[in-house]
Amino acid sequence: MCSYFRIKRIRMNIKNQGFITLAPGVLLADNAEGNDIIEVDGVQYNRFMDGFYIDRSTAELTTEQVFALCRSRSENPNLVSNGPGNEQVKSIISSYILAKNPSTLLELGAGIEPTLTHKADDSIYIISDADDIVVQQNSELGRECSHFGKGLPLLFDDNFFDLIFAVFVFHFSIYQDQIQEISRCLKTDGVLIANVYLLDTNERAILEKKFRDEGLISLRISDPMSSCKNNEYWLFSFSEETLDLNNTIFQKILASTVSKKNS
Ligand SMILES: C[S@@+](CC[C@H](N)C(=O)[O-])C[C@H]1O[C@@H](n2cnc3c(N)ncnc32)[C@H](O)[C@@H]1O
Repeated sequence: MCSYFRIKRIRMNIKNQGFITLAPGVLLADNAEGNDIIEVDGVQYNRFMDGFYIDRSTAELTTEQVFALCRSRSENPNLVSNGPGNEQVKSIISSYILAKNPSTLLELGAGIEPTLTHKADDSIYIISDADDIVVQQNSELGRECSHFGKGLPLLFDDNFFDLIFAVFVFHFSIYQDQIQEISRCLKTDGVLIANVYLLDTNERAILEKKFRDEGLISLRISDPMSSCKNNEYWLFSFSEETLDLNNTIFQKILASTVSKKNS
């Protein structure tokens, strides 16, 4: 999923170059080896992951664009490699969740490969996604998936979740009404954890403010392994005390992962 920007630019005619338009402003190349910045019919596109090109930053993509991109990504695993960075991020967030052992857990933007492969017998692990096709695909795979996105509330009581998390979702837009719902359903001593990559400084500040406006303060933890471009782990909670406590747990997991990697 990580993209690496080289400074090459190339002008091209879309008809001759083996691109499919997935949605206006979102292209899929027929090979993963293209340039990082291209120009098609006067519009500049940046490479995203291996084979996609997008005409704006990930945070500015519309939901239609995000869904087209993510659906294509899961349909084309051969074209779009996840890379070791993705597994590393998933593994760190999974280790944190296992260390916390929450009774009630919600995954945002789970896609069709929920992050946790097993859970404690007496705990509740809810997966959710904004895309109705993903909800349907999960259902076909025998998994219940809540439809939660822009304009779609969470169907859970206030203060229901101990822990909410998202993996490779927060570089897309998270809408204010969603954040209101997250804030409503998170317990007062609960935590939201997500990795945030790609976003620039300004986009990160906007994301932070959206959460602060719903009462959630954040702590940004840099990724010592630079798993993907500008990756950070963000913790959100309603109090500094909860943030401090969870930062301690998270730092231990990071330290142990780094030491295993170096040994
Ligand atoms: C890149 S995929 C990641 C899927 C999975 N978490 C993983 O790491 O394999 C992003 C997923 O987030 C969903 N998504 C994007 N924006 C979202 C939003 N604002 N709220 C909830 N889900 C969203 C997409 O539909 C997609 O399934």
